[in-house]
Amino acid sequence: DWVMGDYISEAVEKIRQQVGDEEVILGLSGGVDSSVAAALIHRAIGDQLTCVFVDHGLLRLNEGDMVMDMFVGKLHAKVIRVDAAAQFLGHLAGVNEPEAKRKIIGREFVEVFKAEAASLKAGGADVKGAKWLAQGTIYPDVIESGGAKSKKAVLIKSHHNVGGLPEQLGLKLLEPLRELFKDEVRELGVALGLPHDMVYRHPFPGPGLGVRILGEVKKEYADLLRKADAIFIEELRNFKDAESGKSWYDLTSQAFAVFLPVKSVGVMGDGRTYDYVVALRAVQTSDFMTADWAELPYALLKKVSSRIINEVRGINRVTYDVSSKPPATIEWE
Ligand code: XMP
Repeated sequence: DWVMGDYISEAVEKIRQQVGDEEVILGLSGGVDSSVAAALIHRAIGDQLTCVFVDHGLLRLNEGDMVMDMFVGKLHAKVIRVDAAAQFLGHLAGVNEPEAKRKIIGREFVEVFKAEAASLKAGGADVKGAKWLAQGTIYPDVIESGGAKSKKAVLIKSHHNVGGLPEQLGLKLLEPLRELFKDEVRELGVALGLPHDMVYRHPFPGPGLGVRILGEVKKEYADLLRKADAIFIEELRNFKDAESGKSWYDLTSQAFAVFLPVKSVGVMGDGRTYDYVVALRAVQTSDFMTADWAELPYALLKKVSSRIINEVRGINRVTYDVSSKPPATIEWE
């Protein structure tokens, strides 16, 4: 589209002028904002950009590989993937309380990212020493950080757009999406060649599956949840609403599976099972401050339930969450 093409040329020119021949580091999360920022900056300065992708082990099924395929395989960007799953899970062992879990994940994330950024700043094999930290801050983030914030909002923001980090690292801040609203960021992403499905993905919290596994986080639980969640999302994409022709993925604002560390009795073939429970959550909302549970078709729920129970060994019961926000929240923790 012509207008977007113009916008990209201008934004690219601006980034080139700002950055000159200096190196830039960007924390890639797989989310829309950091992905679009990375694609735009890469378009402007190519290999002067190094992305750091911290995999905390609490990502969705194949998410890490998908991010690498996209940015390294297709865009040919430089990405350092840090596999920090063992470190995160180690620190989370024995921790049950949701806010404590959030704090640990947020803190470790900053630690891992800082260590990588510091070594890139110091210069290395193919980096001469970075001078800039790029962030996918968008206009609503800019407004929000000026006004009153809830405790959770602070945590939400502190996770992705890490406040104070540029100062701590002694890097200059590059925020090319600062003037854009979310829908503009999405249009820009598509125009830059990012896949539609990536750019229009439901939001995913920074702490990832860490807040969708109730209580203590264990690798075993995360592996079960990833499989169940992937089935749910796949069927939401498959099922189309007859009237609108849209998929139920597009008709919901956010949908995911939640792992309940509770065992219940079931029967499979001739045998008794004693396995874990998964709850499905799907909501419709315009602002995520209030939300209604989505009236998904029974046929969809039926398919998802039978697929999860048949395909995910270790889960023998699926429930659907019929709570609205308020008084429930969208996430379970
Ligand atoms: P709740 O559960 O508060 O969620 O109704 C509202 C929206 O915020 C997302 N969320 C988070 N995002 N870090 C994030 O980046 C967090 O700690 C966090 N907690 C909730 C949630 O997924 C929903 O879209």
